[in-house]
Amino acid sequence: MAKIVTNNLNLWYGDFHALESVNVAIAEKRITAIIGPSGCGKSTLLRVFNRMNDLIEGTRVDGEVLVDGANIFDAQTDLVTLRKKIGMVFQRPNPFPLSIYENIAFGLKIHAYPAAKGELEKIVEESLQSVLLWDEVKDKLRKPALRLSLEQKQRLCIARLIAVKPEILLMDEPCSTLDPQATMKIEELMRELKRNYTIIIVTHNMQQAARVSDDTGFMLLGKLIEFNRTEAIFTSPSDERTENYITGKFG
Ligand SMILES: Nc1ncnc2c1ncn2[C@@H]1O[C@H](COP(=O)(O)OP(=O)(O)OP(=O)(O)O)[C@@H](O)[C@H]1O
Ligand SMILES: [Mg+2]
Repeated sequence: MAKIVTNNLNLWYGDFHALESVNVAIAEKRITAIIGPSGCGKSTLLRVFNRMNDLIEGTRVDGEVLVDGANIFDAQTDLVTLRKKIGMVFQRPNPFPLSIYENIAFGLKIHAYPAAKGELEKIVEESLQSVLLWDEVKDKLRKPALRLSLEQKQRLCIARLIAVKPEILLMDEPCSTLDPQATMKIEELMRELKRNYTIIIVTHNMQQAARVSDDTGFMLLGKLIEFNRTEAIFTSPSDERTENYITGKFG
C-alpha cells in the first residue's frame, strides 16, 4: 500500500530546478531510504512531503503529492494537520531548553490536545516508552533535556513527534552527528517504529541505507534515478549511475 505518491513533482528555488519530475510511491509501514550525493535534492524532497518548503521564499512546485490519496497542494489542505500527521526529525537533535517532560508535553499543547493532567502524564510515558528512553529518564523527567546525550536527545525528539500521533516520520540524516554505537541504537529504534509508522530516511551512509531500509531511492541532480527494494538497489542496480554511486565511483 502506498502512503505517499508523487506524480511529476517539480520544485524550483527561484530559477533553480531542484526537483525534476519525481515519481515515487512510498510504501506504508516500511522504511524508505533516499540516497544520493550532496545537493541532489534529498532534503528538498523530504521537506515537500509536509510542505515545509512553503516556508522558503521563492519556492514553486508543480505536480502532485498524494498522502493517503489526497493532494497536499490542494487549497483545502490544513498545514497544521498535515505536519501533525507527517513529523520531521533533523540532523542535529533540537530539544527545547525545557525539561524532558515539557519537551514532550509541548507538542501536545501546540496541537491543542484536550489532555487532562493524568492523560498528559500517560502520553509522556508512552511516548518515551516507544523510543525506548523511558527507563533511562523516568527518574529525571523534570531535568533539562539539554543534559541528555546526543543520542538520547535524538530519541527525545522522536518521542516528541510520536506524542502527537503522526503516521509518517521524515528523518533527515538523523544519525550523522552520532557515533557508531548510538547510530545502531537509533537504527534499532527505527526497525521497532516501522511496525506503526511509515519512515523515510535521508542518509549519506550507504551501509545504513542497506542495513535499515526496505526500499531505496537514488537521486542525482534533482532526479530520482532509480527506486526499488533496497536489496535490489545494492546488489543489482539497473542504472549505471546508481551502480557508480553505490560502488563509490563518485559522490
Ligand atoms: N533555500 C534554498 N534556496 C536556493 N537553493 C536551495 C535552497 N535549498 C537548497 N537549495 C539547492 O537545491 C539543491 C538541493 O538541495 P538539498 O538540500 O535538497 O540537497 P541534499 O541532497 O539534501 O544535499 P545534502 O546531502 O548536502 O544535504 C542544492 O543545489 C541546493 O544548493
Ligand atoms: Mg540534505
